[in-house]
Amino acid sequence: MHRRDVLKLGATLTSAGMLGLPWPRHGFADSRSLRERADAKGLVFGCAVKSPQLGTDMPYTDLIATQANMLVHEYELKRKNVEPSPGQYVFAGADKAMNFAADNGQAVRGHTLCWFQANPDWLEDALMVPVAQREQLLISYIDRVIDRYGSRMQSWDVVNEVIEPQQADWNGMRTDNPWWRALGERHIDIAFHAAKEKAGEAKLYLNDYSVENDVRWNEDRRNTTLRLLERLKKRDVPIEGYGIQGHLKPYRDRFEPEVFAKFLRELEGFGLQVMVTEFDVADVDGPADPAERDADIAAVTKSFLDTALDSPACAGVLCWGITDEYSWLSDLEKYKRADGTKTRGLPYDDQYRPKPMWDAIAAALDAAPARVPT
Ligand code: G3I
Repeated sequence: MHRRDVLKLGATLTSAGMLGLPWPRHGFADSRSLRERADAKGLVFGCAVKSPQLGTDMPYTDLIATQANMLVHEYELKRKNVEPSPGQYVFAGADKAMNFAADNGQAVRGHTLCWFQANPDWLEDALMVPVAQREQLLISYIDRVIDRYGSRMQSWDVVNEVIEPQQADWNGMRTDNPWWRALGERHIDIAFHAAKEKAGEAKLYLNDYSVENDVRWNEDRRNTTLRLLERLKKRDVPIEGYGIQGHLKPYRDRFEPEVFAKFLRELEGFGLQVMVTEFDVADVDGPADPAERDADIAAVTKSFLDTALDSPACAGVLCWGITDEYSWLSDLEKYKRADGTKTRGLPYDDQYRPKPMWDAIAAALDAAPARVPT
């Protein structure tokens, strides 16, 4: 997405008088937090948390408590962390975030029960067994984790990132995946049915990325997703939600509201709850001036969240972190900035100060249609 496209989004905002430049922090009539703004509309607003920093980094802890009404574990609830050895479960990290959420009256979503990544090193070999035992390796893990937290989760990412049209499968599925190798596409059915047995009221989600932008490879992913949802529906797989991760890259992939809105309407057609589950904005390839990047990020944030929250199926938004200090974007070669500065893709900077992105999220929450309490 060229900077002129991003500015076009910003111009729309400026002309609407919603969020002029420089961003009027005091532009809001009140000082409510993002959590309070979301609560007022019956929406989710939350973020991913790293439990080691909870209670040790106090400015971070305060932001998590005051700005989020829902949390998700950034990594502690993944099988690599939870079951480091076969049958040996380690829940300390996950428990810490669960207990923090309980102490602060926050909901939690479970991320994730079945993924091609973040599996313990022993799993691939363990899957070299007859099919029935492979199924049990998936089912028993899901049973164990949901047994521990089931009634406390608003939703589960039962299966994460299963499509990859650039791989060989005729259906655009991710075949470079231990669960695919072990059980084929049926691993999705098995995971959802196992979760449904135990998860009570929690919504069962399929979660994936790069379905947001007006670029060909995202369109391929959207179409692959919709075809997969059709197959799962025909097989009576109990899928109840779809998580749009929302890792935007506005300087690489153009965001076009109407393209995204069309996909949301198609998801509504499946009767699914939708959530933006891992929202952040990579500013790699953006201008050197942080203020310019902040303005661009705020513009695409407002446009993206306005579009998402306009969908009656969308329950809300979680950011993939709350402060640039701990963003995964600064750790990854393909997203870290060449000038060595931190990425600026979350609502608070690395000094825990709110940025124009915070304003854009607040404005989108304030502008969103209120949800009728269910
Ligand atoms: O904190 C430990 C540290 O004590 C230890 O010394 C170090 C070396 O093992 O590991 C550190 O934990 C790492 C953790 O990130 C720190 O945040 C884990 O190894 C590392 O695997 C973990 O990576 C996470 C990654 O998923 C894999 O689980 C990232 O934080 C997390 O942002 C990323 O999130 C994924 C979503 O689950 C799915 N969507 C994409 C998203 C970004 O890749």
